[in-house]
Amino acid sequence: MRALCWEGADELAVRQVPDPELRNAQDMIVRVRQSVTCGADLPLLAGRSPYLVAGDVLGHEFLGEVVEVGPEVRRHRVADRVVVCAAVSCGACWYCRQGLFACCDNGTAGGPEAESAWGQPVGGCYGHPARTGGFAGSHAEYVRVPYADVGAFTVPEAVSDDRAVFASDAAPTGWLGAELGEVGPGDVVAVWGAGAVGQLTAGAALARGADRVVVIDDHDDRLRMVERHVGAEPLNYRYVDVAAELRERSGGRGPDVCVEAVGMAAGPPGLLGRLGGGAERPLALREAVHACRKGGTVVVLGTWTGSVDAFPLGAVMNKGLTVRSARQHGQRWIPTLLDRMARDELRTEHLATHRLPLERAADGYALFRDRTDGCVRAVFTP
Ligand SMILES: NC(=O)c1ccc[n+]([C@@H]2O[C@H](COP(=O)([O-])OP(=O)(O)OC[C@H]3O[C@@H](n4cnc5c(N)ncnc54)[C@H](O)[C@@H]3O)[C@@H](O)[C@H]2O)c1
Ligand SMILES: [Zn+2]
Ligand SMILES: [Zn+2]
Repeated sequence: MRALCWEGADELAVRQVPDPELRNAQDMIVRVRQSVTCGADLPLLAGRSPYLVAGDVLGHEFLGEVVEVGPEVRRHRVADRVVVCAAVSCGACWYCRQGLFACCDNGTAGGPEAESAWGQPVGGCYGHPARTGGFAGSHAEYVRVPYADVGAFTVPEAVSDDRAVFASDAAPTGWLGAELGEVGPGDVVAVWGAGAVGQLTAGAALARGADRVVVIDDHDDRLRMVERHVGAEPLNYRYVDVAAELRERSGGRGPDVCVEAVGMAAGPPGLLGRLGGGAERPLALREAVHACRKGGTVVVLGTWTGSVDAFPLGAVMNKGLTVRSARQHGQRWIPTLLDRMARDELRTEHLATHRLPLERAADGYALFRDRTDGCVRAVFTP
């Protein structure tokens, strides 16, 4: 089959790779209909993961059609239209039973590296290096879906492919952000980053009843989307003092909940970053900690792999902040999100600004990486 392979820093190529096969009784094979770029791919693309190997297939947010099921798959049949959670989780281990699917003990194949970097291995993810599972990515014609009954969800007829594909990762991540922040009526929420994740976090905060939601970025095209499609307030950090402006919009206190949805993609590539343990510059996170009201919550949704430089721990301690973070536990929220999509309460299709055939995926990544031509997410169709 054809698939988008990482060949080296900023080098991508569509190549012929072996077709995936059923390996376990709970596996199924999905023919990909849509597969989307994500901010989490950018550090990988830049060669900042020491574990990515030339030839690895990228991509983890996807939707497709079931073409083959293993003997223990109960919830899916050939020809079903499914969206697949980006996280690979077994559904049966202690962590999965707590609903902490992204912490799964069995969905990972990258034990030793993750253990040395983070103390414990974590759950797997498609299209990521061995450290977080080593599962082949979705920018391909076919994908093997392990633990199919746990990770794949039938898409309701009323929901289009263009909308449902975002239920794979970006939408559950946004939902996670609002949930970790325990956002509720009366809250003022600030979100750093107006990418798909930031926009869907803002939408989730409004859905949970937040009074005001402000999204911070320097890309006016993305900020216009925030206003038009999400109904949140845009704030361009190039033109204003962000902390002062946020205080102004929150009764002089600062936001109750501050969400960082930027991640290390904004940091400098370099040797330290490549070694995974290097110090990244968490500019947005620092600003979030400073801006947050005393006793408020800071949520880290952005992807980080190693250490960060100059984290303002003093502000966390003295202001009594709660800092929470996670990779999305999509298996918990995808059914609800699909229902919301079917009721037209959650719209995501505006995020797919660019649609390209898989053969042109390298061009799609260039647009997405450079945020040119108004690109928010590029969708590939094999
Ligand atoms: N926690 C999870 O499970 C999970 C899941 C998916 C994605 N992510 C992470 O979420 C982050 C966002 O993903 P995305 O796809 O929206 O990425 P993206 O690259 O499209 O968006 C990031 C946005 O942040 C903006 N930005 C950069 N520096 C900023 C700053 N200092 N202040 C404010 N905004 C700034 C950029 O202009 C961009 O619009 C990434 O780090 C991604 O890896 C996490
Ligand atoms: Zn993603
Ligand atoms: Zn598990």
